[in-house]
Amino acid sequence: MKKLCLLGLVATLASHPVWAETKPAALKDKDAFVSDLLKQMTLDEKIGQLRLISIGPEMPRELIRKEIAAGRIGGTFNSITRPENRPMQDAAMRSRLKIPMFFAYDVIHGHRTIFPISLALASSWDMDAIGRSGRIAAQEAAADSLDITFAPMVDISRDPRWGRTSEGFGEDTYLVSRIAEVMVKAFQGTSPANADSLMASVKHFALYGAVEGGRDYNVVDMSPVKMYQDYLPPYHAAIKAGSGGVMVALNSINGVPATANTWLMNDLLRKDWGFKGLTVSDHGAIFELIKHGVAKDGREAAKLAIKAGIDMSMNDSLYGKELPGLLKSGEIEQSDIDNAVREVLGAKYDMGLFKDPYLRIGKAEDDPVDTYADSRLHRAEARDIARRSLVLLKNHNDTLPLKKSATIALVGPLAKAPIDMMGSWAAAGRPAQSVTLQDGLNAVIGEKGKVIYARGANITNDKAVVDYLNFLNFDAPEVVDDKRSPQAMIDEAVQAAKQADVIVAAVGESRGMSHESSSRTDLNIPQSQRDLIKALKATGKPLVLVLMNGRPLSILEENQQADAILETWFAGTEGGNAIADVLFGDYNPSGKLPITFPRSVGQIPTYYNHLTIGRPFTPGKPGNYTSQYFDDTTGPLFPFGYGLSYTTFSLSDMALSSTTLNKTGKLDASVTVKNTGKVDGETVVQLYIQDVAGSMIRPIKELKNFQKVMLKAGEERTLHFTITEDDLKFYNTQLKYAAEPGEFNVQIGLDSQDVQQQSFELL
Ligand code: NOJ
Repeated sequence: MKKLCLLGLVATLASHPVWAETKPAALKDKDAFVSDLLKQMTLDEKIGQLRLISIGPEMPRELIRKEIAAGRIGGTFNSITRPENRPMQDAAMRSRLKIPMFFAYDVIHGHRTIFPISLALASSWDMDAIGRSGRIAAQEAAADSLDITFAPMVDISRDPRWGRTSEGFGEDTYLVSRIAEVMVKAFQGTSPANADSLMASVKHFALYGAVEGGRDYNVVDMSPVKMYQDYLPPYHAAIKAGSGGVMVALNSINGVPATANTWLMNDLLRKDWGFKGLTVSDHGAIFELIKHGVAKDGREAAKLAIKAGIDMSMNDSLYGKELPGLLKSGEIEQSDIDNAVREVLGAKYDMGLFKDPYLRIGKAEDDPVDTYADSRLHRAEARDIARRSLVLLKNHNDTLPLKKSATIALVGPLAKAPIDMMGSWAAAGRPAQSVTLQDGLNAVIGEKGKVIYARGANITNDKAVVDYLNFLNFDAPEVVDDKRSPQAMIDEAVQAAKQADVIVAAVGESRGMSHESSSRTDLNIPQSQRDLIKALKATGKPLVLVLMNGRPLSILEENQQADAILETWFAGTEGGNAIADVLFGDYNPSGKLPITFPRSVGQIPTYYNHLTIGRPFTPGKPGNYTSQYFDDTTGPLFPFGYGLSYTTFSLSDMALSSTTLNKTGKLDASVTVKNTGKVDGETVVQLYIQDVAGSMIRPIKELKNFQKVMLKAGEERTLHFTITEDDLKFYNTQLKYAAEPGEFNVQIGLDSQDVQQQSFELL
């Protein structure tokens, strides 16, 4: 009888079309459906589902389709159009069990429309804008047949030497956690099964941003308290928000690579956090267990990974090669494989693919006539979001905004740099569609003023660096040098400056300098550009630096040289227009730094919420025998939360509703913020809390809330922040998460340093 049923099901599955029509009732109950399907699968088919392959231009498509039809591939990434993916899904529908493929991609900060890099999005402190960017990215990617994104990337990064700082949302646990939640909800919409949603897979689990010395792929050695308190909450926030997937980090954690880490993957993720989704290794990570030195060969690597709970293997063949043997020898159990397959099938179920494998691929007749058509972009949204992410760092003598009738000398290697404008991980973005700074300025200036362009410098004069950055891009190198001598370029720029009212210099990093595998020992603007800035300064003309970079830079000298500095990060498809909006005052900048700017690389780490110490540096006092570097000023160049506006804001004294708080009670901290300048503008009012004395040392302050407010010139508004016991909780030495009675300081300010303070007691 049972056999007959099974045969019946196989026969049903073999008929076209799909699950919804053939077994609608079965689809109602995910667990039952998945278990039922699992029972039909051969070992080969199961292991096939655990294989995630990267599609390269060189790969023979026919072979891939054959493999899919044989049930030997579960999903792909890097194939990103409907016509590319449809034949693969067709192949899956020819497979014995017709298990649909999923199509993944790194949709990090936009898909076709490129939004500012994540670090820039975080600079907006604007949850609505960030959410919009994620929703549009999901809609565009889903319309191109993608089902899942390897995002959000929520690795806390406190060492800007790490090139992937650009990919994350900065140094602060609270801010990054808020954004993690917003991004997951934006990607997934009301359900990852919607045709215009992507499943999110939060990465890189865990602690990748804390690699030693900022050296990519390096080890992480961290106390449990620091992990739980500072680094783990953003991943947890993403999971609580419903992230369907988790990508596992390449690094080791306290001696055990994440990919083999049963504590991380089983105890923490699945048991403690209750994660019930798909885990994916990072590129080649299972194989790398051999390099890490925890597996002696591929067989052991596959065993460690499957035992740790790595469901899908990204781009290595070890599961396929080794799992059958491991099972046969009894080194792993059938349930190890089945559990992993269950998650893959479950994720596909959650993506809506069993209801309709063509949910996002659609019908061929509905394919866009031109996949790359400009009409498919969301330019207005990209411009709006980009300008919210720009941070005004300096504006001496109101150098900005510029007059639209001005003659502007536009110089610098990043003034006309469409690729760099997109930043790294620019998904399906096309450089030809990105608006450069030159385009943006020209569009505003028109006939009214004049833009004189001179490149002025190459990104760097260091050929070895250029070669490094172009290493993987032989066909179309990203960093292309002007062959003139550095001096000839500077001379031309100085000539342009002399004819101008003001200089706008677009300087910083090429996008590849802030990318995966792009760690730096030095956070200076490259010397070629520093020579240019020095020569420009010598002309005596007002100098505006438009910084483009994916990490904080040490710009101590440039801060003295420049009259104004606008941090634009890599602002995306509409970057040039957005920057022009701010430079000319059509938009009043409102961004705040989500990461501290050090004075020099030697100060790192410089994150604002460091722990208290016994001999703190005390400003204004002789510093001997206190914690500091004696050869430089103590403290950052620009603190976390900092950013200027074209208007000014004042804060009234803070009012606390009480000087005590009960464990179940609420405290209200309020402040009136007033726009005291002449133009409308937005600012971010930030609330920090310090636990004055606890059972263990605590940070000098921690961001606990913020509000971004728009105020017309002269307008004022009273803002209220609610403080509860939850805001005071922390992980103690026993990793117990609880608040301790005693005194707390509340600080409110417009950045993390310039704050006013009051105290209360938790009873
Ligand atoms: C390696 C990167 O570490 C990861 O972030 C990315 O998602 C994968 N490659 C796939 O592109």
